[in-house]
Amino acid sequence: MVDAFILVGLPYLAIAVGIAGSVWRLRNDRYSASARSSQFMENRALLWGSAPWHIGIILILAGHALALLWPGLWSALLSPPGVLEVVEGTGMALSLLCLAGLGVLLARRITSARVQAVTTTMDLVVAGLLFVQVLLGLLTAVHLRHGAAWSTGTVAPYFWSLITLRPDMSYVADFPALFKLHLAGAWLLLMLLPFTRLIHILSVPIGYLWRAPQIVIWNNPRRRQQAVDAHITAESRREFFKGFAGLTVAAGLLSLGVLEKLFNYFKGPQPDAQAEADLLAKKLRRLQQTAEERELELERQRQKMILVARYSELVENKGHYFIDYQMNPGLAFKGKDGLPIVLSAKCTHLGCTVGSQVDEQGRILCPCHVSYFDIATGNPNPGAPAKSPLPRISWALVDPSGKVLLSRKAGGPLVGQADPAMLAQCALYITKPGSQM
Ligand code: HEM
Ligand code: FES
Repeated sequence: MVDAFILVGLPYLAIAVGIAGSVWRLRNDRYSASARSSQFMENRALLWGSAPWHIGIILILAGHALALLWPGLWSALLSPPGVLEVVEGTGMALSLLCLAGLGVLLARRITSARVQAVTTTMDLVVAGLLFVQVLLGLLTAVHLRHGAAWSTGTVAPYFWSLITLRPDMSYVADFPALFKLHLAGAWLLLMLLPFTRLIHILSVPIGYLWRAPQIVIWNNPRRRQQAVDAHITAESRREFFKGFAGLTVAAGLLSLGVLEKLFNYFKGPQPDAQAEADLLAKKLRRLQQTAEERELELERQRQKMILVARYSELVENKGHYFIDYQMNPGLAFKGKDGLPIVLSAKCTHLGCTVGSQVDEQGRILCPCHVSYFDIATGNPNPGAPAKSPLPRISWALVDPSGKVLLSRKAGGPLVGQADPAMLAQCALYITKPGSQM
């Protein structure tokens, strides 16, 4: 219920209030934000606070926009080795820059009597909320490592599901409260935008970028030369911005392609009789597939043991994947003592499948948000996003005559005896939880 409100209700409420309120404010009351400027009251701390804050937040939000709107492009940019770490480090450094800048701005509003004269309670609320929002973002980046990568497969599709009016909160429903608060903060800020100083975001004077420069010609020859130099500089700047605008138009055209896809998506298919028959046949095949899968699941549930691999196939440095009784992935290894190690391969963080390669420290990696799990204990490394161990799975080693030589219940003691020569003949099975061997 709370999730549905934060992840679906609040976004739509915020978008509606944000758009309607901004249109109203820009039509009826657009200059009141700059009218209460504090620049004349105090200038030094303003520079030290405003510059770091704006540089930091603009770059961070540009990164957010790219990851959410063009997740494919963003993933491609992140794919060369090391780029993800650089982007992550830069994001964290910029967050600290933002917090420092905002800290100065807040202190200035609280301590300077002159600035207080033009400060409203709402100004302090917004600044405080921005501070908390950036802090939540930074904590997300620190605790749920590699967000720049995982957001493309989770947050971006969730975001698009909202935009295309087919909200699907399942993409982010399992995330920790920390990240959901970060999302809620963003929507709250959007909702407050029209009614606070934040409205200035919508009045950035970008027209200045391509406006023809105004030339003042001096009679004094030195000044005239300076004016000409300044004119040349301004011209080259203008050319640069023209190029930039060209590139932006190209990007716009690219997004037109996306829009067309979106349009077709909403229009939906208009199938003729043959296409409709194909669609029904496809649906039928899918239903049959689902029924077969269910049948397979039931079949597994009926068995006391499920074959994993021959013992001779197990190795120490690479796990052997299998599907467990709950149809989740599992991994089997040969331990240092020669006995099997059988673990669930479903990450205890957000459920990704853990990798099978064992590193030099005896750990396997969940690549989604970087949790390393010790295969001997199942425990995640300290500070990993995953907090609990990979569950152990009960197993049995069965000889060619079908006799169970060795078995171990999840977390229990070893039962039975076998010499290494006999082990080589055995097959590894997982055993049904609760069943007697
Ligand atoms: C719906 C809107 C938003 C979404 C989906 C979102 C999502 C995210 C995600 C996934 C991260 C983790 C990135 C990483 O680990 O590298 C993050 C970090 C961050 N977010 Fe947001 N965010 C949103 C809005 C905002 C807003 C409005 C602000 C600031 C006013 C903000 C500020 C930050 C900061 C400072 C960080 C840490 C630096 C970074 O890693 O980029 N976010 N956000
Ligand atoms: S799913 Fe997040 S670390 Fe595995």
